[in-house]
Amino acid sequence: MERENKVASQFALSKGFENRHCEILGMREFILSNANGIRIRIAEYGGIVREINVPDRQGLFEDIVLGFDSMEAYKQNPAYFGALIGRYGNRIAHGRFDLDGVTYELAKNDGENHLHGGEKGFGSVLWDGEGISGEGFEGVELRYRSEDGEEGYPGALDISVTYRLTDENEWIIDYLATADRPTILNPTQHSYFNLTGKAGSSILEHGIQINASHYTPVDSNLIPTGEIAALDETPLDFRASKAIGARINAQHPQLERGKGYDHNFVLKRAVSEELVQAAEVYEPISGRLMEVLTTSPGVQFYTGNFLDGSLQGKSGVAYGVRSGFCLETQLFPDSPNQVNFPSARLNPTEEFKSSTLYRFSTR
Ligand code: GLA
Repeated sequence: MERENKVASQFALSKGFENRHCEILGMREFILSNANGIRIRIAEYGGIVREINVPDRQGLFEDIVLGFDSMEAYKQNPAYFGALIGRYGNRIAHGRFDLDGVTYELAKNDGENHLHGGEKGFGSVLWDGEGISGEGFEGVELRYRSEDGEEGYPGALDISVTYRLTDENEWIIDYLATADRPTILNPTQHSYFNLTGKAGSSILEHGIQINASHYTPVDSNLIPTGEIAALDETPLDFRASKAIGARINAQHPQLERGKGYDHNFVLKRAVSEELVQAAEVYEPISGRLMEVLTTSPGVQFYTGNFLDGSLQGKSGVAYGVRSGFCLETQLFPDSPNQVNFPSARLNPTEEFKSSTLYRFSTR
């Protein structure tokens, strides 16, 4: 672990646009940096984002994502820290869906339901990474072939996920995929942010604004009821910025079911290539601001409700409840079983495309 961090910091010392990678425990890592000193550390394994170092308003760089010190620890990553998620991000009821008259059975790895691609989803496989760079950015393209039947999903799937860090302080994620027969796909990225930069501290003082007037309410197993409900008059309405903690314990059946916020917010009703402003999070002490833009129809706002202090994170810090939040851009949960939701179907004649952008600044 010590050696690992030493290697990483040596890489971090040199700046510029030349792409760098290093090999740790036989697995490669990439460190992207930009003209303003921002650094993102990425593992080929799981496409895991291990660190995002951004300045506060005084110029102090701190790591704003949760994770582990050693790559070994990510082999068991029950909370999906920093990981790529797929084939299907979020839940599929009873691990079952129909496609063209055939019923497919997936792993039930979350009670009765399928979660985040199953036992060995995109966050637990080795991707093939290649450093890329261009005018004003450096990045890594990660490629993976998911074989026909992997984790129970139909069709062989070729997917590439490109992470780019730009001089505009944006982390851009582009997903591109094709399949050899009809299948379903809903990839996402599962970084947990804590903009204070102080690992283990609470996220409840962060202010968040989400550009959604509707959400998909869930049942007690966090499976959507199928309704697309208005957020008006609920403690889940973030159209005007509010502290995450201001209403998190309010008496509301949805907050009780989620143990806090763990909901899909509707950004648009259909799949399109239009990039929309999804959310903005501001941490008042550090002054750090993060904006999220996406082409995805939905975003899961999750407040780390299942973190219970049992996971020892970076520097041995125990991650307690609500010490990180996720904004997972996605299709809607359980879309394959919900006629009203945007379709997750991918046909062999099509190319799956989606993009998400996290922009960092201070205020
Ligand atoms: C997602 C889900 C949560 C939880 C986390 C992982 O955000 O919506 O319910 O499963 O992943 O712990």
